[in-house]
Amino acid sequence: MKVLHFESIDSTSTYLKNNYQDLDNMTFVSADYQSAGHGRNNRNWKSENGSNLLFSLLILDRELINLFKSISIISAYSTIEVLKEYGISNCFIKWPNDIYVNDEKICGILLEAVTKSQIECLIVGIGLNVNQKVFEGEYLRLPTSMCKELNKEVDLNELKLKVFNNLEKNLIKLKEGYDFYSEIKDYDYLKGKEVYSILNNEEKKISVLGINPDYSLKIKDKENIIDIDSGEISFHTSKI
Ligand code: BTN
Repeated sequence: MKVLHFESIDSTSTYLKNNYQDLDNMTFVSADYQSAGHGRNNRNWKSENGSNLLFSLLILDRELINLFKSISIISAYSTIEVLKEYGISNCFIKWPNDIYVNDEKICGILLEAVTKSQIECLIVGIGLNVNQKVFEGEYLRLPTSMCKELNKEVDLNELKLKVFNNLEKNLIKLKEGYDFYSEIKDYDYLKGKEVYSILNNEEKKISVLGINPDYSLKIKDKENIIDIDSGEISFHTSKI
């Protein structure tokens, strides 16, 4: 594992996108502040300076790149294991890659790939709310943070090492063929919920049947049962 840290940067994921050719597999890049942090669906990812864990991980290993469909969910699971170590229970994975505590988002994960004739690298970007107490901006529901859940501040450096080590350990296990499904299925936030989704550019109400053993998601759209891969769909609990 290699770790680079910036006090301020545009985005840790953009840094890896621009520099992956000169870096090693399993390079972690963290930052106190991002001026252009981004999330899914081209949304901004805003985070108070020095309060949260903001990092990206570079994956160059071909075997892991080939497992790209599992990477987001294993990253979420690895983060949940650390949250539980800190005493935060009631954590869920909102498929494929958000972490919720009860009904509030605590962590967002964005998996990106640099593709030429094949996938050159994967970049896992993680934003975990740690010591931020107040969230300004437009949210359907306010996010939470470790500090809000625990009513005390968390040492960011200690947390960072725990998350990096656990994520690396689990990615090695994944590569060795370990099946995380029996652990992951217990954290399925959407299972059994009726949600609004945007599938093929169309908003519809669907029922979620749950995460499949291959980490795709089984949904019911009217009478049709479909398995979907991440990236095909976004979910809202209320109509937009
Ligand atoms: C989401 O919920 O939409 C995913 C958010 C991912 C944010 C992280 S913060 C570190 C890394 N750098 C970025 O610009 N984005 C990711």
